[in-house]
Amino acid sequence: MAQIGTDRRAAKKFLEAGNVVGIPTETVYGLAGNALNPDAVLTIFRVKNRPSFDPLIIHTDALEKIHQFVTNIPEQAQLLADQFWPGPLTLLLPKRDVIPDIVTSGLPMVAIRIPNHPLTLDLLRSLDFPLAAPSANPFGYISPTTAQHVADQLGDQVPYILDGGPAGVGIESTIIGFENNVATVFRLGGIALDQIERVIGPVVVHTHSTSNPSAPGMLSSHYAPRKPLRLLAPGESPRPHERAGALVFREPFGGLHPANQRVLSPTGNLNEAAKNLFAHLRALDMLPIDVIYAEPLPNEGLGFAMNDRLRRASVQ
Ligand code: TXA
Ligand code: MG
Repeated sequence: MAQIGTDRRAAKKFLEAGNVVGIPTETVYGLAGNALNPDAVLTIFRVKNRPSFDPLIIHTDALEKIHQFVTNIPEQAQLLADQFWPGPLTLLLPKRDVIPDIVTSGLPMVAIRIPNHPLTLDLLRSLDFPLAAPSANPFGYISPTTAQHVADQLGDQVPYILDGGPAGVGIESTIIGFENNVATVFRLGGIALDQIERVIGPVVVHTHSTSNPSAPGMLSSHYAPRKPLRLLAPGESPRPHERAGALVFREPFGGLHPANQRVLSPTGNLNEAAKNLFAHLRALDMLPIDVIYAEPLPNEGLGFAMNDRLRRASVQ
């Protein structure tokens, strides 16, 4: 069973030996390994049961280091990096040969970010390689936002989980690429669209579900709990039912048992809602219910990214 602790040096030792380790970030917990070591990267794919065509994000601690990994940083990418790093933003940039092909699934771009978590930044500073890290969940399941979530699902396959407390943002990073000089958002995430557009102007959003291995972005089956999740229409209430639960924004539905419902933010704060989203979804998944209803979030700020996750988690 994995040891959970706050010992950065223990994490460093395991990583230097080619092992994978759970690490905290401000978005979700990552399953980290030496990004420059193909065997360590292979272990990440194996532990997560992740298909090899779904590339990984690499994490580093300083902008100066990025040039070791990429051949070029477009002007818009630089503006976004200056504004949002460290933070929940991932940039797709043309990779250098030092990044093994297995990291990018053979694609010419590498996904890269500087996460905003003090413990992980310290860890990255102490290493002489970047960390490849997908979210530390089995492929297709809800992303972990605490060390315990990681232990619950991958604990028998990782030697160490670095505990940095509950993730402060709670949803994954926003992913942006710049092919043909057009800034394109491939995944909505912890930096909202309006924040991005304030820095570089209008962007293209291209987050359609795909199972096309060569296309960047996400698979449609992501983020799903084990129980069927039904995303309600705005204003719609679920029919009263004994064995139904609900994920709601501000207040529980009248027709369902209060114990079967989880409120994301009683004050209607979308950042608080994002922070609670995955933990509440996990909690609902453990209840003796047959279906989870989810209320859509307002389409503003992080609400877009949360609705995107709920749509992907829901049964069609
Ligand atoms: O917030 C986050 O980004 C978290 C934390 C741990 O940093 N990581 C994360 O990783 O969400 P993961 O592997 O669960 O999701 C990464 C997404 C995948 O959908 C993948 O397809 C996309 O990034 N991606 C990675 N490299 C890419 C590339 N070279 N081109 C296009 N998409 C890429
Ligand atoms: Mg993931």
